[in-house]
Amino acid sequence: MTMQNKLAVQALQWTGDALKVLDQRQLPDKIVYDEYNNAAGVTEAIATMRVRGAPAIGIAAAYGVVLSVRQHYSASSHWRQKVAADIEMLAKSRPTAVNLFWALDQMKSVLNQQLDNPLKAILACAEKIHSDDIAANHKMGELGADILAGAKGVMTHCNAGALATGGYGTALGVIRSAYQRQPLKVYAGETRPWNQGARLTVWELAQDGIPATLIADSAAAWLMKSGAIDWIIVGADRIAANGDAANKIGTYSLAVLAKQHGVKLMVAAPTSTIDWNMPNGDHIEIEQRNQNELLPACYIKEDSLVSAWNPVFDVTPAELISAIVTERGVILNPAEQGVRGLKNVI
Ligand code: MRU
Repeated sequence: MTMQNKLAVQALQWTGDALKVLDQRQLPDKIVYDEYNNAAGVTEAIATMRVRGAPAIGIAAAYGVVLSVRQHYSASSHWRQKVAADIEMLAKSRPTAVNLFWALDQMKSVLNQQLDNPLKAILACAEKIHSDDIAANHKMGELGADILAGAKGVMTHCNAGALATGGYGTALGVIRSAYQRQPLKVYAGETRPWNQGARLTVWELAQDGIPATLIADSAAAWLMKSGAIDWIIVGADRIAANGDAANKIGTYSLAVLAKQHGVKLMVAAPTSTIDWNMPNGDHIEIEQRNQNELLPACYIKEDSLVSAWNPVFDVTPAELISAIVTERGVILNPAEQGVRGLKNVI
């Protein structure tokens, strides 16, 4: 089996009756799948980051709607109101990744068709969102690998791999495809505060036999100064129409450092991550997570003088991005034209 069609790591599995979610908070120590039978469970799985990564959040939410329709349809004459309430609950699970709202809109448009029996169509829509995402990642992998021709080293941030998507990954999809073509040294930042790089990215690459070198986030400037990397490759949680891209906190710092060191920055994301109606990144809601996720336990008490500021995304301006890679094509130097040109590309 080639790496192309192998799904070494699967964050989400639809069983036919339930959604199985790989609990990413327990990786790499334990591989534990939790099974969800209703939208409330899926909402909790997203909010608590058992499932994470923009495309995976959207796919999970779509299956959450399937579970809602299955639970309420025919059991209640008010099933549409109940499903609408579940959709609202799912939409509140996390604010920054636009794929969540995009996927819920897709599901709503199936419900709006007023089909007599929506069960089949609603499941088909969720499965299509899932399989389209995997296909998009393979396409981006090839397009991104074309750009990386001749590169000797790359760095990635957070986890934008199979774990964060339907499969194969966005940034890690590009790295997987490039690695198949040429030797490539891969560095991953640990990615505070949740350490997705340390816990997830290097583990996921190792599952595919791709050697990865972990660095402390604070070592990134020195790594760039050493000349070891030509590109930084990241995913995105929301891309505004002008090309500004929200991604895991620390991406903006890397972009600023990259400019200083002549390193290029690639953002790989499916078009479901583009918020066509958002003119620029200033309008993107940045999720602030609980300070308890950052603070050592000894500081978590009522009279503590120590608090934490815990934004988990930042926005990299388009002018610091060299290429945005999507399944519909590549935008080089997005600051010049934004990403609007991709909107009507089939
Ligand atoms: O907070 P997370 O872990 O959900 O954040 C995920 C990221 O920032 C990823 O890098 C991003 O979603 C791109 S995923 C393909």
